[in-house]
Amino acid sequence: MTPNHSSSLNSALRSKLPDVGTTIFTVMSQLAAECGAVNLTQGCPDFPPPTGLLDRVAHHLYASNNQYAPMSGLPALREQIAIKTLALYGRQLDPDSEVTVTSGATEALFSVIEAFVHTGDEVLCFDPAYDTYDPAIRLAGGQAVHLPLVAPHFGIDWNGVRAAITPRTRMIILNSPHNPSGAVLSPADMTSLEAIVRDTGILLLGDEVYEHMVFDGRRHESLLRYPALAERSLVISSFGKTYHATGWKIGYCVAPKALMSEFRRIHQFVQFCVVTPMQRALADFLASDADHYLGLSAFYQEKRDRFCALLAPSRLRCTPSAGTYFQLADYSAISDEPDLSYARRLTREAGIACIPVSVFCALPGNARLLRFCFAKDSSTLERAAEILCRL
Ligand SMILES: Cc1ncc(COP(=O)(O)O)c(C=O)c1O
Repeated sequence: MTPNHSSSLNSALRSKLPDVGTTIFTVMSQLAAECGAVNLTQGCPDFPPPTGLLDRVAHHLYASNNQYAPMSGLPALREQIAIKTLALYGRQLDPDSEVTVTSGATEALFSVIEAFVHTGDEVLCFDPAYDTYDPAIRLAGGQAVHLPLVAPHFGIDWNGVRAAITPRTRMIILNSPHNPSGAVLSPADMTSLEAIVRDTGILLLGDEVYEHMVFDGRRHESLLRYPALAERSLVISSFGKTYHATGWKIGYCVAPKALMSEFRRIHQFVQFCVVTPMQRALADFLASDADHYLGLSAFYQEKRDRFCALLAPSRLRCTPSAGTYFQLADYSAISDEPDLSYARRLTREAGIACIPVSVFCALPGNARLLRFCFAKDSSTLERAAEILCRL
């Protein structure tokens, strides 16, 4: 290659996300594998999806349901999503124009942000924040405005939100139940949010992928329960989370018709459509086994309780998670080392892998917090706790 060629290629390689490397989830999972560590990093269960659902997948794979699905999702699945939304949140959806099946929540988040965030728009998000929001906002030409959630309860400071709103605020991203803290929004939060967005053009993006994992008798406060919020909301969920099938990457987005038609303009070019036999299987299973997702909070609460009880004799401090399948642990009684290097050292030296919470934060902080995924079999949780109790 001549020098001229290589310099022109260099300019073509100018990164759109120069500060972004491989995500911590990949880095820590690889390190865990190299070190043979117990892996409580990524949010993926180590137990299988329900047998009834797998049976339906096998059936549809062999029944020749293997060609492109409609762009917005199979009608039968959209219908089931509408039925579930009405039953759980009292919101009536038109499955044709207000529901779209997506390639996981990740694609839905990206498509929402691409559809609505214009150059110079500001989007409020709360740190610690799931890692896809910020890059998607920047790729759309917008600016993420990061507001802190404060440990141990990680509640939203609504006065802070009010103060952060400017004429350029296009959207607020709300993630409840919240990854990584497990915090859930309360009815009082929804009232504050309603008062703040009333008479504005601000859209709400609800990342509700852990909607079925809410503990201690709490109720999931979906944006969809509140008509004044739902009319300006795009709400996203994930079948990967609900059915222990994160590798399928199937989720969905619901929104009022006008918002949904803008969303679909983007979705059709990002993904076009989602894997057909899985959609058919999910439609069947939602129709026949609604009890499965209704039992998920109890299922994960038991795991949370077990994990926290196993950690009780340790020097880690845990405020039990209110939702999700993540538990935070404060290690400040053990070490003052920053969480990133401490998490790496734990993986290499102690044989336990987790996620340091600072990677979810754009704002600098000095919290000594680690995130553990407890969507694991009892034996995995016991092995993890045995190690953690020795620290
Ligand atoms: C808060 C949050 N949103 C979105 C996603 C992505 O979900 P999916 O795997 O369906 O793309 C995750 C996955 O970990 C998550 O924790």
